[in-house]
Amino acid sequence: MRILAVSGSLREGSFNTSLLRAAVEAAPDGVELELWEGLADLPLYDQDLEDVADVPESVRRLRENWAAADAILFATPEYNGSVPGSLKNAIDWASRPRLDAALRNKTVAVVGASTGQFGALWAQQDLKRILGIAGARVVGTEIPVSRAHDRIDAEGRLLDGELFEQLRLHLTTLASEAVGAPERVAA
Ligand SMILES: Cc1cc2nc3c(=O)[nH]c(=O)nc-3n(C[C@H](O)[C@H](O)[C@H](O)COP(=O)(O)O)c2cc1C
Repeated sequence: MRILAVSGSLREGSFNTSLLRAAVEAAPDGVELELWEGLADLPLYDQDLEDVADVPESVRRLRENWAAADAILFATPEYNGSVPGSLKNAIDWASRPRLDAALRNKTVAVVGASTGQFGALWAQQDLKRILGIAGARVVGTEIPVSRAHDRIDAEGRLLDGELFEQLRLHLTTLASEAVGAPERVAA
């Protein structure tokens, strides 16, 4: 089982990316979690570039990588009460062409970290809604990691054993849901 881990933060010292690195360690037996880095390479979504044969290389890679994964775990920061534009942009690209989209029937789950006290809860709720509209099968609940600076150290290590176990459980759910997922139907 290969699960892709997509961080919605481009920041070098991102708590969300650290969370996904911890999730790599927390993955249960038989689950391989791989960080996907390609968000910053994507152009802004433009429907005029939609033609499958002609899309930019970074978009082609996104669609290929996301489509090939058995499932995807997203980690989102919260920017002004919602998901960062860069993450929404990637999802827009991966939601088209509608009938053969990389996100169509893809089993996905979300986590999120913020330095505030609500742990990017609004961003995670929005992200689940957006992913569902984009055609993904969203599973599991939100995992709000509040006051991330107290729970992840300067080297990006998780200081919270309970959170590590939560990540493991989340991945176990995601993996088992992905096993029973319907095949993506090509257009
Ligand atoms: C433009 C911007 C808007 C933000 N808005 C929110 C917000 O609405 N809620 C919140 O909890 N934190 C907010 N924050 C703080 C982020 O949660 C914090 O910077 C977090 O560390 C970002 O995630 P990262 O460490 O993965 O980059 C905001 C930060 C930025 C840069």
